[in-house]
Parts: sequence; structure tokens; C-alpha cells
Amino acid sequence: MSTSLNKLPVWSKLPNTETTIFTVMSKLALDHQAINLSQGFPDFDAPHELIELVAKYLATGYNQYAPMGGALPLRKSLANKIESQYEVSINPNSEITITAGATQAIYTIITAFLKENDEVIVFDPAYDSYLPAIQLNGAKPICIQLKAPDYKIPWESVKKLMNTRTRMIILNSPHNPTGAVLDANDIDQLRRIIGGTDIYILSDEVYEHIIFDGQMHQSMLRYPDLLRRSIITYSFGKTFHTTGWKVGYCIAPDYLMKEIRKVHQYMVFSVNTPMQHAIADYLQDKTHYEKLSSFYQQKRDYFLSLIKDSRFKFTPSAGSYFQLLDYSAITNKKDTDFAIELTKKHKVASIPISVFYNNKLDQKMLRFCFAKKAETLALAAEQLCKV
Ligand SMILES: Cc1ncc(COP(=O)(O)O)c(C=O)c1O
Repeated sequence: MSTSLNKLPVWSKLPNTETTIFTVMSKLALDHQAINLSQGFPDFDAPHELIELVAKYLATGYNQYAPMGGALPLRKSLANKIESQYEVSINPNSEITITAGATQAIYTIITAFLKENDEVIVFDPAYDSYLPAIQLNGAKPICIQLKAPDYKIPWESVKKLMNTRTRMIILNSPHNPTGAVLDANDIDQLRRIIGGTDIYILSDEVYEHIIFDGQMHQSMLRYPDLLRRSIITYSFGKTFHTTGWKVGYCIAPDYLMKEIRKVHQYMVFSVNTPMQHAIADYLQDKTHYEKLSSFYQQKRDYFLSLIKDSRFKFTPSAGSYFQLLDYSAITNKKDTDFAIELTKKHKVASIPISVFYNNKLDQKMLRFCFAKKAETLALAAEQLCKV
């Protein structure tokens, strides 16, 4: 379009938001032929049987709108999975909604419940879609910093910041970008401070099946007292190596789901049909997701064994497919500058952690995605050992 046209004034609702770091680093990786461990996606394909199921449904007429809440066979499969996994009964008709990835679920939930000036407790570093969703709805994020190396939630600070305007707390375990996970003590603390309030919990559990060293995933589904105030988000992209399909779901008690669906029906109405039916069938077999933690733990251990003698320091990731590396023994440069240098000079792309902090706190940490083939991890490790 001609640039000589006069522009109209723009009153941006997100004046400080720029292109996400994931796009920036992936482009930089491409431009400099670097190994891309920045954006969180596998460089291997989805299970073949799942792809065949999608092809089957595409070829047999499953190509029109799905029901607003999601294809019923998928919601029923999920209710069965949840019952056997967490011993809780979830109503597939009224307590599960299939969404266009967890990102749409998060935006929909925040839009359904947050009004002007409501406060939301967010833990920094935070997955990058939370803050814009809060801000676009006129609500106010109250950011609490988690610090390296363990990124534990300082529950006493949370309690001090809670007040009558606090409407929601956002949890994410296993955590992106740090790989930290909630433990039983965190659940005790959460119960202690949230009991007797009207605060909702938005629990982002997209990495529920990627948790290491025998730890138990602390889902809100395990705790009836927390579940009655929780909305939980999941992503098939993470579980089935299908990030490009953008299919996920959320779970909430029916009185909350009623409000979520009021927004969902005008945001997307429903999500692509053949994928939903294919996933419904594929979920009947537990093998894939029950083996996912050990599949990714092997990748984590392989990557870490290769870089153990490098100048990077690390605490092994407890969950998710991300590993943080501390480069403070190498340089004092800002993490954003060092991530660019690492991509251009050493040909490995990562994500600087300061971008996940509202105040850009720089703790000399970079995030590396190990959802990659062994040969990709080996090439990256070889480069990292030379730094
Ligand atoms: C913590 C977290 N939540 C939500 C999402 C979004 O998931 P989806 O791709 O299903 O929208 C991601 C994806 O990276 C994530 O890491």
C-alpha cells in the first residue's frame, strides 16, 4: 500500500507491546543459520497414528463447525482421562471447553472475569500472553518476582499484596520459562492464603505431562477446595508435538464455565473439527502421554550431560521442555545482548529471561528449548562448549 497516504491517529491499546521475542529470535536464528533452541516447539513430528486419524476424519466428512463447547467425543475422552488420572469427575457437557490452543483459553478466561481496575497476581517471569490479556481488559497485573536459582513463590509476599480488589491469581506449573514446579508445600500455602477469599485461580497446566525425577504434577484437579475456584488450561500442542494445530482446552466448575462460554462463543465459537475427533480417538490409548515425562527427561539429561563441562551453570529443569543456563561466569553483558551474540557468533539461539519480567530483571539467564532431536541437541551443545 502506498506510504504517501495520510495516516489516521492510532490510540494503541498496547502502546508498549512490540513483536514477541520468539519471532525476533527465530528470525535471527534463520538469518544467521543458528540452531534454534529459542521458540518452544519440537523439531520432530507428531505421532504417526494421530496424523492418520486426522486424515481419516478429513476424508470422511468431519469438516463443518464443531459444537461450541467442542466435539463431544473429545470432551468425553478428556473426562475419562481426568477421572483415571486425578480421580475427579468432570462433566463433559458443562465443565470442559475445547479452545484454539491454551492461548485462546487464557485470553477468554481473563476477558470473562476481569473488569476495569481488578487486580491479578502474576508471577514474573511469566508466559508472555498473560499481561497483554490483563491490560486489554483494563485490569491491573500485580507482579511478584520469582528469583533464580529455584524460582519459588514467596507466599508471604503474595498474602501482603492481596486485597479486596484482587480478583485472580495466575499459576503456571510446570513453569515456562524456568521449568520450576509447584510442590505439596506450595499447595498448603496457597490454600492457607486463598481460603476465605473470592479469588479465582487461573492455573496454566499446559506442561502437565512433562515433569521430571518422579515428581507429582500438582494440578488444581487434585484439590476439590481449590478446584471450585479454578479454571485450568491445557494444550494438545505440548502433549502431542502439534503446536501448529493450536488446539487446547480449559476446565472449570459449571458456574464458571457458563461465563467463559459467553465469551468463547463470540471469540472463536468453535475449533477445527477433524483434529478434535482424531485427538478424541488417540486419547483412548494412554501410552503416549504416560511416557512423555521420561521421553523429555532423557532429552534434558542428554543435553545437560553434553554441556556439563561448559562455562554455563545450571540447575536441571524440574518440568516443561525448557532448561535455563546461567552465563554469569562467561560475561557480564545484558541477557538480551548476550542472546543476540550467542546467535550471531556461536550459532545457537535462545531466549533471554529478562523479557519475561515486567521490569526486565536481568539475572544472566537464557532459556533453551530441548524439545529437539538428539542430533540438534548435540550440535547446539558442541557450540555452547566453545563459548
Ligand atoms: C505456559 C504456557 N501457557 C500457554 C501456552 C500456549 O499454548 P498454545 O500453543 O496451546 O496456545 C504456552 C505455549 O508456549 C505456554 O508455554
